[in-house]
Amino acid sequence: MLEAKALAAANSGKLDPYHQVQTLGELEIFDPNLSVNSNIACSYCHDPMAGYANGVSILSVFTGGSNPGSVPITVSGAYPNSRIAKRNPQSYTYATYYPPLHYNQSQADFYGGNFWDGRASGYRLQNSSAHQAQGPPLDTQEMANQDSACVVWKLSQSAYKSFFETVWGADSLEIAWPSNVATICSTPAGAASLGGNTTPVQLSTSDRTLSNKDFDEFAQAIASYEGSDSVSPFTSKFDYYLAGSATLTTQEHNGYDLFRGKGSCNTCHLDGRSSTLLGGSDTGQAASLQPLFTDTTYNNLGLPKNVRLPWYSEDTPDQWGFTANPLGFGFTDLGMGLFLDGYYGAPPDLSWGVLEPKFDGKFQTSTARNAAQVPYAGFVKAYMHNGYLTSLKEVVHFYNTRDVYPYNVLSGHCPEGTIEKVTCWPMPEDPNNENLTIGKLGLSPEEEDDIVAFLGTLVDGYKP
Ligand code: HEC
Ligand code: HEC
Repeated sequence: MLEAKALAAANSGKLDPYHQVQTLGELEIFDPNLSVNSNIACSYCHDPMAGYANGVSILSVFTGGSNPGSVPITVSGAYPNSRIAKRNPQSYTYATYYPPLHYNQSQADFYGGNFWDGRASGYRLQNSSAHQAQGPPLDTQEMANQDSACVVWKLSQSAYKSFFETVWGADSLEIAWPSNVATICSTPAGAASLGGNTTPVQLSTSDRTLSNKDFDEFAQAIASYEGSDSVSPFTSKFDYYLAGSATLTTQEHNGYDLFRGKGSCNTCHLDGRSSTLLGGSDTGQAASLQPLFTDTTYNNLGLPKNVRLPWYSEDTPDQWGFTANPLGFGFTDLGMGLFLDGYYGAPPDLSWGVLEPKFDGKFQTSTARNAAQVPYAGFVKAYMHNGYLTSLKEVVHFYNTRDVYPYNVLSGHCPEGTIEKVTCWPMPEDPNNENLTIGKLGLSPEEEDDIVAFLGTLVDGYKP
């Protein structure tokens, strides 16, 4: 067990400062007690064996990869029977390499940030992934704590309390907790009984300040672990190929040439080379020997609505009087547009709001690294923000033929004689700002397979 090993390392007193912070983050990421019902850890939705994305095959098929959160729904006859998020869990490998979100004036584009929609901008701690790590603990659909002080209280009860204080300072977790802290902290976020109060744990002003500081440091340690050699190690076959100590097979090499050529993949998933889409040839050295396979921007690929997301059914109050998605099936995932439009509260830079129309429908360009990692052969992995695509072959076929087989229908309603995802692509969930560099790439079925083979070289843990 990773947790037991991490705890033993923490207690050994032998870790240098660099590894202390990372190990603390590891302990936090694997700790289910940090959720309201002490039942789910971060790692529950981000399985190391699945490239730190959803690790439950059947969920990829039926929920777009979305995992049930901490809070069961006990209302009779309810579907889903747990609160569950609206999107597919993103891998957090290389997430720490996305800089704090910023708007580039000359490119008129956003760079950086975490989450599919960039809302973890990292503006306050200047760290997107630390900002991100403060999201799930308080998200009603995930770990569902109502107050960040509940997370800190749980840290103060944990087996690694003193290790936290070794890293962040003696007495960091010495806070005078009110006698009802356990009751409040077992009440899920969004419960009507809490009346919308986001700080129901009564603390003195100085203890509240200390708790807020602890919550920042909790998050910074998580970011440190996500950027560590355990999670983001740059050890794929492709990395060894760049270092001159591995050779790509003929198929992988063909795939690579298509990735940076006819497929135009590296115009967004940067590989450190130039793109030869327009018929040039690139024989030079790679410009980056640590390529991230993302440009950290946001794009609308025109993915169809995934009608299987349980989110669309979360339109009535649960037993806590909380309704996650009042719009039901009428909800449209505008990606970055939701964030800029104030769905999560005003964006931190108030001048961003007016940019919304240009960013509707856009989602974070994932790193292509580790997309191919699965726990076992035959495992179904969900791809993209809504998990609509369920294999890399489908992913590449979508890029290749989106505009060859477009149909003005919802998923499940492809016309007779066509096959959905093969010779029929349902209409985009949001047609605004659709990216037109992809959609009709003219790749043969073999060329699609070659690109899939190349993606396999981007999985970490290769032994040269
Ligand atoms: C119930 C499932 C669930 C749990 C628990 C969960 N996540 Fe996630 N995670 C998701 C989903 C879904 C997304 C995408 C959400 C979105 O974009 O709105 C996500 C996104 C992320 C990202 C963004 C990656 C990127 O490239 O931008 C990171 C990092 C991450 N999670 C880390 C964590 C950490 C750390 C925790 C625990 C503190 C955690 N997650 C707990 C489901 C979960
Ligand atoms: C215009 C920019 C762009 C181009 C070109 C592009 N991608 Fe993507 N890619 C994205 C974005 C944006 C996402 C996430 C989209 C979403 O979820 O809505 C993504 C997601 C992916 C994912 C899924 C990652 C995951 O974990 O779910 C893979 C794999 C991928 N791309 C591979 C490719 C390949 C292979 C090509 C070339 C055939 C390609 N991409 C071309 C922008 C691009």
